[in-house]
Amino acid sequence: MTAIEASAPGKIILLGEHAVVYGQPALAVPLGSLRATARIVPGQPGAGLTIDALDIGVRLSLAMAAMNALSLTARLVLEAAGAAEPDAEIELHSTIPIASGLGSGAAVAAALARALGEYVGRSFSAAELSDLVYEVEKVHHGTPSGIDNTVVCYEQPVYFLRGQPPRVFHAARPFHLLVADTGTPSPTRETVGTVRAAWQREPERCEALFTRIGDIVRTGYRAIEGGANEKLGPLMSQNHALLQELGVSSARLDALAAAAVTAGALGAKLSGGGGGGSLIALVRAADAAGVTAALESAGAVRVIHTTVS
Ligand code: PMV
Repeated sequence: MTAIEASAPGKIILLGEHAVVYGQPALAVPLGSLRATARIVPGQPGAGLTIDALDIGVRLSLAMAAMNALSLTARLVLEAAGAAEPDAEIELHSTIPIASGLGSGAAVAAALARALGEYVGRSFSAAELSDLVYEVEKVHHGTPSGIDNTVVCYEQPVYFLRGQPPRVFHAARPFHLLVADTGTPSPTRETVGTVRAAWQREPERCEALFTRIGDIVRTGYRAIEGGANEKLGPLMSQNHALLQELGVSSARLDALAAAAVTAGALGAKLSGGGGGGSLIALVRAADAAGVTAALESAGAVRVIHTTVS
């Protein structure tokens, strides 16, 4: 048995986070330049399965491990494969920052599941892998909509509606996004909880915000499919304003959004859970360097330029 390696991308939510948990659509795209990778090699006979998550200093032996996202992923794979625990070692690496709204948890689980599945003779379709990773997402999120596992496992842009098969889409014309990291980690579970508490206190106000976000997503989807990318910028900024009203933005995210637009971005919004994490800005290719510099001056710890096509 030789080594097997598998990987999965990070992701960006273009429009619709949070409202998607309450039945509105959302648009997400993979972020292939940031990836989680799992490499599995044979271990000593009788040693069982060891998982090394080197980036976060975690090493666990499956037989001894308490239930967590990594051990749950491995157990679900072995159950799906009908396989016994192999004597093997898995090394995990990820370049996706944790708790930054870029799908790190889903990508790590997807890479681990793919590599271990191949090793024990079970390759998963994108849909099967997505269902498996969804179970793991519950550990991270509590009440995940399913959008993260879907876009990460299909590695395609998706129009996502909770409970329905994802619709893969393609942009009629490519567009450029900058992804700025605030440097403030923010667990999605917390901001999802913030929105839930607001919704329980003021259901009508929140439902109205969700509906307006859903309308923005449908308009944005038509714009992207029709090649009218310039319409996407204002929609992103409107979506950001509604997320502010839901209480999931932050002073840093708002400052980065303002800096991006002042420097020529067509629109900007937080992406993912919010509270910290990442901001995305739509730019013309010619403005990418200037907007990147403005985001860095406004405090972004890292800015990535990606093209959606
Ligand atoms: O994992 P994050 O931070 O990218 O957030 C996922 C998007 C949310 O809508 C906030 C939650 C969900 O389950 O859809």
